[in-house]
Amino acid sequence: MAYQVGYIIGSLSSESINRTLSEALISVAPDDLEFTEIPIGDLPLYNRDLDSSFPPEATALKEAIAASQAVLFITPEYNRSIPGALANAIDWASRPYGENSFDHVPAGVIGASPGGIGTAVGQQNLRGILSYCNARQMTAPEAYIQFDPQAYGKNGEVKDEELRTILTDFMQEFRDHVERVLTVLPRT
Ligand SMILES: Cc1cc2nc3c(=O)[nH]c(=O)nc-3n(C[C@H](O)[C@H](O)[C@H](O)COP(=O)(O)O)c2cc1C
Repeated sequence: MAYQVGYIIGSLSSESINRTLSEALISVAPDDLEFTEIPIGDLPLYNRDLDSSFPPEATALKEAIAASQAVLFITPEYNRSIPGALANAIDWASRPYGENSFDHVPAGVIGASPGGIGTAVGQQNLRGILSYCNARQMTAPEAYIQFDPQAYGKNGEVKDEELRTILTDFMQEFRDHVERVLTVLPRT
């Protein structure tokens, strides 16, 4: 039985390096993980006035998370935090009050940046948000990826051997984390 992993890319850019990273992660992941992207680009801005009549894009987001056994976040760092588009998506998914979609969901966090700290500060911010949302996060290994375009080929190929090892280990540990969490907190 494969685990269904929904993944959220924090960037809306058509040339996103985090999308490239997501393709690489999927290509090296264990066979018993199946991936579905959870899109966030069409969501309106969150407004609590709509809590009693969610727009269809927000309902679709919550349904996609509900259909996932785990969620993997692959995100840029914006101004030492997370992109507004990602914060907006998390706000929608966490509401209405009492219907937080992330409650007990196994989660992982990773990201790429051209800069040397490779989204470390953004990831820490995201971890704080996910803690409040009661997601069951993988705490180790961390992976702060300084993006080198030479290291990636087409369709998820990872040309750099050291990077491939890091990403493969990360996904194997993520798989084991998901299994551990679902053992005590099963999701249908
Ligand atoms: C509004 C904005 C803020 C940014 N802030 C950071 C930052 O705090 N740290 C960082 O390493 N890169 C920062 N960057 C550069 C991004 O890492 C870079 O644009 C990266 O390619 C974004 O990821 P993406 O290609 O997946 O969209 C910022 C870029 C933008 C547009």
